[in-house]
Amino acid sequence: MGRVEGKVAFITGAARGQGRSHAIRLASEGASIIAVDICEPIATMNYPLASEEDLQQTVKEVEAVGGSILASKADVRHREELVDVVARGLEAFGRLDVVCANAGICPSLDSTPLSGFIDATDVDLIGAMNTVAATVPHLQSGASIIITGSTAGLMNGTTENIGASGGHGYMFAKRTVFQYLESIALLLAPHMIRANAIHPTNCDTDLLHNEDVYRAFRPDLEHPTREDAMVALPYMQAMPIPYIDPGDVSALVLFLASDESRYLTGMNIRLDAGAMLKKPPM
Ligand SMILES: NC(=O)c1ccc[n+]([C@@H]2O[C@H](COP(=O)([O-])OP(=O)(O)OC[C@H]3O[C@@H](n4cnc5c(N)ncnc54)[C@H](O)[C@@H]3O)[C@@H](O)[C@H]2O)c1
Repeated sequence: MGRVEGKVAFITGAARGQGRSHAIRLASEGASIIAVDICEPIATMNYPLASEEDLQQTVKEVEAVGGSILASKADVRHREELVDVVARGLEAFGRLDVVCANAGICPSLDSTPLSGFIDATDVDLIGAMNTVAATVPHLQSGASIIITGSTAGLMNGTTENIGASGGHGYMFAKRTVFQYLESIALLLAPHMIRANAIHPTNCDTDLLHNEDVYRAFRPDLEHPTREDAMVALPYMQAMPIPYIDPGDVSALVLFLASDESRYLTGMNIRLDAGAMLKKPPM
């Protein structure tokens, strides 16, 4: 028996990075997966978002571990698209137990004042709330909602300087996830439905590995490379590492998705290699 045998998990941003890793890990422990990703660009983004080929790669890797998956292109900014995917997922798998609101962006291009801020908050905050809104009517006792925040959202002086307004929007969205999580967890607890948020530090994905984030770590350089950033990335954490791996987050997702954590709810969990020990929370 796998640790989430027979459960069905809905995962946003599942075409690559942490979302793909969660899909594979949960599938390898017996869950069926409903995966969504935008699979197209957003204008304020300076690094490419996932493609349809990326989402198909997730399908292949979930199937390779023996899992079942329904993968769809959908944008978390549009609740009706998520409602449609959830309905098709329920048709395919008959139930819904785990929700991973994982999709996220850190925009750095502004075409109009606040456009980066608006896109960041639409995806990172409203997108997470849409994910909960689309799924919660179908959750029953024992279900688990897992929202991905960010250590960056809980500290001053991290993403605020990325782009004119996008990095600030990212911080605002992730910080607000913290409070949102506590509210919904309290309201869902009498129904025996749990909600927790994971706040990762730097994680080895495309969201981290782009020039704008590198510049946040190396403001002394106009065009910092990965090699330049690697010198500074370990200073974020108390443990001497540059970043965690997507699999480290998936291990916690698996625990929170499973019944092993059946009385754990309302927790904003810092998965940060001690980053917040170095820098007091806001
Ligand atoms: N990488 C890090 O350093 C880091 C640190 C802390 C928190 N996070 C958070 O982790 C989560 C996962 O990000 P990642 O690190 O895997 O980065 P990533 O860029 O590899 O993955 C994000 C995924 O979300 C998808 N996505 C973006 N906008 C979407 C939308 N509107 N609708 C549906 N899908 C959309 C992208 O296409 C992509 O596949 C995000 O919420 C991110 O903010 C990342």
